[in-house]
Amino acid sequence: MKLAFAGKGGVGKTSLCAWMGDHLSRRGLDVWLVDADTSLSLGAACGLPPEAVPAPLAAREDIVRERIGSGIMSLTPFVDDLPEGLSVELPRAPGQGRRRLLVMGGVDAGGGGCACAANALLKAVLASMISGRGEVVLVDLEAGVEHLGRGTVADVDGLVVVSEPSLRSLRTAAEAARMARELGLARQALVLNRCSAAPQLPPLECLPPLAACLPPLEGLAARQLWDGSVLGLPERAAVDAACLAVEAALFT
Ligand SMILES: Nc1ncnc2c1ncn2[C@@H]1O[C@H](COP(=O)(O)OP(=O)(O)OP(=O)(O)O)[C@@H](O)[C@H]1O
Ligand SMILES: [Mg+2]
Repeated sequence: MKLAFAGKGGVGKTSLCAWMGDHLSRRGLDVWLVDADTSLSLGAACGLPPEAVPAPLAAREDIVRERIGSGIMSLTPFVDDLPEGLSVELPRAPGQGRRRLLVMGGVDAGGGGCACAANALLKAVLASMISGRGEVVLVDLEAGVEHLGRGTVADVDGLVVVSEPSLRSLRTAAEAARMARELGLARQALVLNRCSAAPQLPPLECLPPLAACLPPLEGLAARQLWDGSVLGLPERAAVDAACLAVEAALFT
């Protein structure tokens, strides 16, 4: 399964992506965590120190030039070796599946070079990451609908749309869902973050069905000034329950 996490800025996309990766790996699945956001925070959310987070692929002009070419762009670059070669592995407990972090960067993070070439490479890498049996690919997207507009995530199987319980946030969620549906991505689930109980939602066209609500997490609020990680919280049971609900909503 290959899932992407979309929604308005600051709603909890990166946190949910890290939680989902942690949850699935504790169930023994091997997880690829793909950071496709310019702010590059998925590694930190998973507990990696800044020096352990690799430079984003989108900013690696040498690789972009080598694979995509300058001048006439290759539309079918060879990229199969890139995830393995450029990812870092997160520590794991006995019995836990692997978690590998691939930092791609956002679509506009093409260094001084051409953002179109960097975007073509990101798209090719995402398309090449066909998840095998017992393997999951989780893609943390940039806020808003940019990636969906550019079709970067055309090859994912499911979209997790994260929103706060507010009209503005839900409007972005509905727009992301609409664009994804136009790309043929019909398998979608809505997660309301910082929301204690399922509310009556405004009638926004295209809003995906509500799969889970996650309340404000005191344990996270209490430590996030000093710690970038969102893992190992006292509220892990609630987080796990939300992850299970998302999986069930998308794949049953
Ligand atoms: N349920 C929650 N309770 C308390 N704090 C939360 C909760 N969910 C997320 N946060 C905190 O809110 C902040 C924003 O979360 P996060 O970075 O996951 O959002 P995002 O949607 O990925 O943001 P961006 O659009 O900048 O990428 C973080 O500091 C995170 O620790
Ligand atoms: Mg984020």
